[in-house]
Amino acid sequence: MILAENPGRSNVDPLWIGPQHRDKEPSSSLIMTSSTALLFCAALLCFLVCSCVGTTPPAVARKPCEYNEIKRCNQQFKQVFLDAKNPGGRNIPIAWKRVYCRALQTFMNCLEQSLASCVGGDWLQNYSFVVLEHGVMDKKCGVCPRHDYSNLERVMHATNKSDYVGFDVCPSCAKGVHRRCVRRFLHKMAADSNICHDVQEFISCYKEEGNPKRSCATTKIIRNFSTLCTKLGEKMLQEDKTHPGLMC
Ligand SMILES: *[C@@H]1O[C@H](CO)[C@@H](O)[C@H](O)[C@H]1NC(C)=O
Ligand SMILES: *[C@@H]1O[C@H](CO)[C@@H](O)[C@H](O)[C@H]1NC(C)=O
Ligand SMILES: *[C@@H]1O[C@H](CO)[C@@H](O)[C@H](O)[C@H]1NC(C)=O
Repeated sequence: MILAENPGRSNVDPLWIGPQHRDKEPSSSLIMTSSTALLFCAALLCFLVCSCVGTTPPAVARKPCEYNEIKRCNQQFKQVFLDAKNPGGRNIPIAWKRVYCRALQTFMNCLEQSLASCVGGDWLQNYSFVVLEHGVMDKKCGVCPRHDYSNLERVMHATNKSDYVGFDVCPSCAKGVHRRCVRRFLHKMAADSNICHDVQEFISCYKEEGNPKRSCATTKIIRNFSTLCTKLGEKMLQEDKTHPGLMC
């Protein structure tokens, strides 16, 4: 079933250049098909095993445009920081906060466009949701009060998702958490220009803050966003290992 699906992929993403594309000789097609099937089963088994271990992303069919769009938007996000390199002053986090807000807004705007041009991709949807929630946290928790994500929220039908934090309030302890995690992200960025390391720092911060022993972890907004960071955010970051250059 899955085999029959693959030859139909016209705009072949490097990911899909698998054994099935060697299957060109009609004379040997029977042998090739069975060996292809065998290879495919082996790959599938490997995937199943690996995904249980949690190191490999799900091998759901992904559209090439999802990769292109995620890469494009990541580049736009990074470019804002590059353009503002060394905004001056000794207190890097404060000087970079405005840059950070602009970068996040750029990211959200970019993904909003992507969702219009690359329709139906589960992965792009998930990715956009994480970025949107990040933007919501920025706005609700007072780091970037001028964020505008109403269009992205609408195109994603975000308000229908159970863990959407767009209706939640950000109590003062949560404001402290978000400020702390953004500060950690910016400090990391000042020392390490690899954006994946910087984002990992942000996610690690939220993982720590989401620990039930922490006093603010019981608030809905922190609990839900921390869960999202752990479940989806980190998984997405790991995609860069499989597809170098996608994000970092
Ligand atoms: C998207 O997120 C949902 C819910 O977390 C998950 O079940 C699904 O596998 C994800 N899809 C992709 C392609 O990552
Ligand atoms: C969102 O949820 C409401 C109420 O549950 C439903 O009427 C509406 O169709 C949903 N919208 C989308 C786009 O899924
Ligand atoms: C979101 O927070 C609520 C309230 O704490 C909780 O009941 C729910 O399970 C959380 N959802 C996720 C996905 O973390």
